[in-house]
Amino acid sequence: MANSVANFMDWVDARFPLTQVWKEHLAEYYAPKNFNFWYYFGSLALLVLVNQIITGIWLTMNYKPDAALAFASVEYIMRDVNWGWLIRYLHSTGASAFFIVVYLHMFRGLIYGSYKQPRELIWILGMLIYLCLMAEAFMGYLLPWGQMSYWGAQVIISLFGAIPGIGEDLALWIRGDYVVADATLNRFFAFHVIALPLVLVVLVFLHIVALHHVGSNNPDGVDIKKYKDKNGKPLDGIPFHPYYTVKDIVGVVGFLIIFFAIIFFAPEMGGWFLEKDNFIPADPLKTPEHIVPLWYFTPFYAILRAVPDKFGGVLAMGGAIVVLFLLPWLDRSPVKSIRYRGTLYKMMLSIFVISFIALGYLGTQPATPEHTMYARICAVIYFAFFLLMPFYTSINEDERVPNRVTS
Ligand code: HEM
Repeated sequence: MANSVANFMDWVDARFPLTQVWKEHLAEYYAPKNFNFWYYFGSLALLVLVNQIITGIWLTMNYKPDAALAFASVEYIMRDVNWGWLIRYLHSTGASAFFIVVYLHMFRGLIYGSYKQPRELIWILGMLIYLCLMAEAFMGYLLPWGQMSYWGAQVIISLFGAIPGIGEDLALWIRGDYVVADATLNRFFAFHVIALPLVLVVLVFLHIVALHHVGSNNPDGVDIKKYKDKNGKPLDGIPFHPYYTVKDIVGVVGFLIIFFAIIFFAPEMGGWFLEKDNFIPADPLKTPEHIVPLWYFTPFYAILRAVPDKFGGVLAMGGAIVVLFLLPWLDRSPVKSIRYRGTLYKMMLSIFVISFIALGYLGTQPATPEHTMYARICAVIYFAFFLLMPFYTSINEDERVPNRVTS
């Protein structure tokens, strides 16, 4: 038996570099030995991506992308299709889980300086993934054709109308009609089920190729390739397989416990994962009282509303994402990890995190004068964190970084 497996592998290897890929990317891919909790979220993002694709395929089997049928087809999936409720909740809760996991993954990059040289491209590819994920979530949310699907899309597409000169034509072109309508639903469906998932999968592949080319950063932010044994293996590295494949299973089990607890006991999460108004069929003649995007968009929505001028708001919202792309060049500190950064950076990062969460909350609230004032303060802090970064990261009060990993 063992012999025939070996023979089969030889046959494959003569035609395809399977063993070579296995060794280079798993069994002999040396990762730093000090990965901690924050390093679970890359593999969890992969898990959620697979979940979204598989449950998405099964949802598509019974969903109808037609303005007259879409809402009822989702209800049909929930009530009549065998296990349809589970597939739908895996997908809708999966969308929020995706953003939770990706935000934590990005935060890890922020605290350990994983975007810094030589990992700038990993970060840029990550940001492209993030943009693609936002478009994917936005288009997916129109598909159930509920009140919030309809009016959310109406508000966001109309933002394009604020662009001087071409705005109105552009919004019309995106909708395919004068209001959000059947044509909009059809094209959003096409993008949501095939175009964007394809782009997403390609980007994730490139993200990992780039990562394996330079190697992972780690919580100490030191380069493990500097110190090698006589065989050329990093002294502070361990083979990804079996060490991290096994460790990642721990993360997966922890994640699945929380994920299924939410799916079984609170799939709507009190309106945070599935909004209450979306259980009402879309009505183009009746605007909901508060039009609010789902939680993962609200920090940017709050920035948009904080600016009195509509076009200015659109620019500020776009700018809030563009500055994230520039992070590798804004941070001038020679130190990567937060462990060895000075107090000034730690303070700036803490204030930034608080204001980002506050923006997320304010984006869910009605735009009263008080809320708008708080949103303005938080938006200024958001931009200050990035735009002042070249200055406060140049004031060198960082600690000495060790040569080798510490744990
Ligand atoms: C579908 C979404 C994503 C998937 C599946 C994914 C997957 C991964 C995986 C498997 C790793 C290696 C394991 C780890 O370090 O945790 C990784 C590393 C990394 N990712 Fe992502 N990622 C995604 C989105 C993002 C985003 C949105 C960003 C940032 C904008 C990002 C930035 C990074 C960086 C900087 C690293 C290197 C971390 C280090 O070496 O310390 N990723 N990613």
